[in-house]
Amino acid sequence: MKPARTNHVKIVTLRNAEIRIASDHDELIRIAVEEWVLRAEEAVRKKDCFTVALSGGSTPAPLYKRLATDASLGERLPWDKTHLFWGDERYVLPDHPSSNYRMVREALLSHLDLPAENVHRIKTEVPEPTLAADIYERELRTFFHVQSNQLPRFDLTLLGMGSDGHTASLFPGGVALHETKRIAVAEWVERLRSHRITLTAATINNSATVLFLVTGIEKSAGLRSVLQGESQPDRLPAQVVRPTNGRLIWLTDEAAASRLDL
Ligand code: 6PG
Repeated sequence: MKPARTNHVKIVTLRNAEIRIASDHDELIRIAVEEWVLRAEEAVRKKDCFTVALSGGSTPAPLYKRLATDASLGERLPWDKTHLFWGDERYVLPDHPSSNYRMVREALLSHLDLPAENVHRIKTEVPEPTLAADIYERELRTFFHVQSNQLPRFDLTLLGMGSDGHTASLFPGGVALHETKRIAVAEWVERLRSHRITLTAATINNSATVLFLVTGIEKSAGLRSVLQGESQPDRLPAQVVRPTNGRLIWLTDEAAASRLDL
């Protein structure tokens, strides 16, 4: 399949997912910023509000920083109408070095004057991870006005992918992979010997747009398995991400995409 090329990005479709391969890291961030801006403009036009579930880890930090500090974006970013949520969180205090909230605070929030009510942090300071998940779920149900048999619909959900094919805190054998009613759950991740709080796969798949950001050669084997290997979502949780009524975009760099058969 011959990839299309616009600017410095190759675009192909694999299994109904749009794969965009940026020529370099700056191009990748530029594309991600543009996707965020377009989704924000569309959502605010439709309902005067833009909801984003942020991904954690290290990959998205430069994107968050660019969104917060690029003066050329100016009024294209309706921060006062933007509500930030987290796709997952480590069960550590919010100022812990491995906290996803802390990463977003340093890369994004510290540069903005976002109203406190627009930042929907997962409250990991509570005594139990399950309680943190329950509180987060209640906050989401209230904000999105969804009952127990409904799920919230994020305008944009950002995701990363581990080299093992996990995404958010959906890990092999985890509860969140197959849970259909809950919005968020707490998981013990044996491999990491730690608790995580994560949106369930069902909630992620209810998003209007899911944007994966995957970079680096160390992700190339996992990306090939997830996108072109056999379907085994219990071993490769990123395969479970297939929005039921939304767009799925994989934004990668050439290193991460280097093993794809295009
Ligand atoms: C987390 C993330 C996780 C992350 C991947 C990729 O809390 O760690 O949500 O799913 O996106 O592990 O992490 P990197 O971007 O650091 O490679």
